[in-house]
Amino acid sequence: MPVIGICSGKGGVGKTTVAANVSVALSDFGSVVVVDGDVALPNLHTIFGLEPTLTLVDVLGGKAGVREAVYRMRTGDYSVDVLPSSQAHDEVGKLEKFPEILKELEEDYDFVIVDVAAGLSSYALIPMMGCEELYLVVNPEETSIMDAWRVKKVIDRLPARFEGVILNRYRGEKWAVAAVERKLGRIVGIIRESKSVRKGWEEGYVVTAVKPEAKVSEEFYNLARRIAGESIHPKPYGRLKYLLRL
Ligand SMILES: Nc1ncnc2c1ncn2[C@@H]1O[C@H](COP(=O)(O)OP(=O)(O)OP(=O)(O)O)[C@@H](O)[C@H]1O
Ligand SMILES: [Mg+2]
Repeated sequence: MPVIGICSGKGGVGKTTVAANVSVALSDFGSVVVVDGDVALPNLHTIFGLEPTLTLVDVLGGKAGVREAVYRMRTGDYSVDVLPSSQAHDEVGKLEKFPEILKELEEDYDFVIVDVAAGLSSYALIPMMGCEELYLVVNPEETSIMDAWRVKKVIDRLPARFEGVILNRYRGEKWAVAAVERKLGRIVGIIRESKSVRKGWEEGYVVTAVKPEAKVSEEFYNLARRIAGESIHPKPYGRLKYLLRL
């Protein structure tokens, strides 16, 4: 499978949440490694409750081999490999090796998922250039959709394929579905606003692994099935269905 990047315009929309949960769900389809591609503000390790010693930054700096910085996370029936990052204090130039590292991982895993930094700085663009397929995460908010549109313009000029939009923190805002489809293109996943996701961040667990029966986990599963190649089309629901968890 190609290397898959999870991107966004605005920060804080849920890239890391999506990358972690989708990786857990994808582990039903094959071996998975999820990479913290955000060396500016890394936090993928937090959602996995991991305190890494060696990280991607050591690999980029030539201080460790890529396999030494990969951690196997097992929760319940799931097993996902995580390549965490830590903050790179020096030049962004170190990132040049990032696409090479991704190529190396691609040989070992069925799925390589990259949690990319927000926006269009080099911290985001260099990892994006190492990916073959890119997804954009947005929230049902005008500013998030507008910023994603700016990133989409850049993606259209990269060799990577744009695979679609993930609408996260959805609470039945059908207007946002229409706005995303008009401005950005097809929606491949709709993920609801969920207390369990917030709690998972506080306590260091991935909700799809710990509560696979939750509605939000089902939505992450559907997205993973779509990424794995199944023909799944998310159905937008209204406010009432959101509240009643139907
Ligand atoms: N589906 C959701 N339901 C509820 N809360 C969510 C959901 N997705 C994300 N969040 C909340 O939003 C916060 C930010 O999410 P996350 O860190 O995944 O965003 P990000 O896009 O990776 O941010 P950054 O741009 O800083 O890397 C999380 O701490 C979590 O509390
Ligand atoms: Mg993040």
